[in-house]
Amino acid sequence: MADTVLDYEAEAAHYDRTRGGVPRAEAAAEAVLRLVPPGARTLLDLACGTGLVTERLTRPGLRVYGADAAHAMVRVAAGRVPGGAVRADARRLPLPDASLDAVAAVWLLHLVPFAADVVAEAARVLRPGGVLVVTVDKDAAHDVDSDIDAILRPHRSAGTASDRSDLITACAAAHGLDPAPGTRFTGHGQGGTPRDTVRKLRAGYFASWFDGDPATTETLAAALTALPDQDRPRADPRYRLASFVRRG
Ligand SMILES: C[S@@+](CC[C@H](N)C(=O)[O-])C[C@H]1O[C@@H](n2cnc3c(N)ncnc32)[C@H](O)[C@@H]1O
Repeated sequence: MADTVLDYEAEAAHYDRTRGGVPRAEAAAEAVLRLVPPGARTLLDLACGTGLVTERLTRPGLRVYGADAAHAMVRVAAGRVPGGAVRADARRLPLPDASLDAVAAVWLLHLVPFAADVVAEAARVLRPGGVLVVTVDKDAAHDVDSDIDAILRPHRSAGTASDRSDLITACAAAHGLDPAPGTRFTGHGQGGTPRDTVRKLRAGYFASWFDGDPATTETLAAALTALPDQDRPRADPRYRLASFVRRG
């Protein structure tokens, strides 16, 4: 299984209920399609998860495939994605060089310590002129200007998120991918609550920001626990999608 904080084998059963469901998936799919050129005929949705976004990447003439590292995710996605879904690590795709017109990865790069390898592999399978679309700066989109954000922000900026846009852009350039215009989508239902943020904090979700230091974890947890309206979600985040074009 992939090296991520969450166990996506176990997450598959309730993923769609807990990640904004159809409204989030529709917003993400619509935004990805905005960045996929009209002439594209093939699109691989990397880390497709349950395929909730993937099945909405529909456009006449575009064939869409899914790939994910977790068996349980692929099992759900296989019934949803018209072109099929396979179990594959995003670092080692079972595809020839230059075989796809577009690759998308929604909510993957922030999870993995090997984002650069994923970008390199996507560049390998894209044909010249092909497009890579990825979410970047995912966690920075959360709770912006909320009371939760005021507590987390100083620690977030000190850290190096694996999907930081400048790092991804530099790595893309090193693999022959030039930056192209990006876009944003609304993470419907993804505004955090203080209580849930404490749960994620203790589960190690933000650990990379401060090397998992237990004292920092407890200081932040105490500050978050003192906030009012522990179960009221703060504003929905606006997630960033970056796109890159494969050099000829
Ligand atoms: C947050 S979910 C995103 C799913 C989907 N893209 C969406 O937006 O609903 C992250 C997904 O990345 C997958 N994943 C994690 N590491 C991976 C890897 N190395 N290769 C392929 N998939 C991976 C997980 O199994 C999980 O399904």
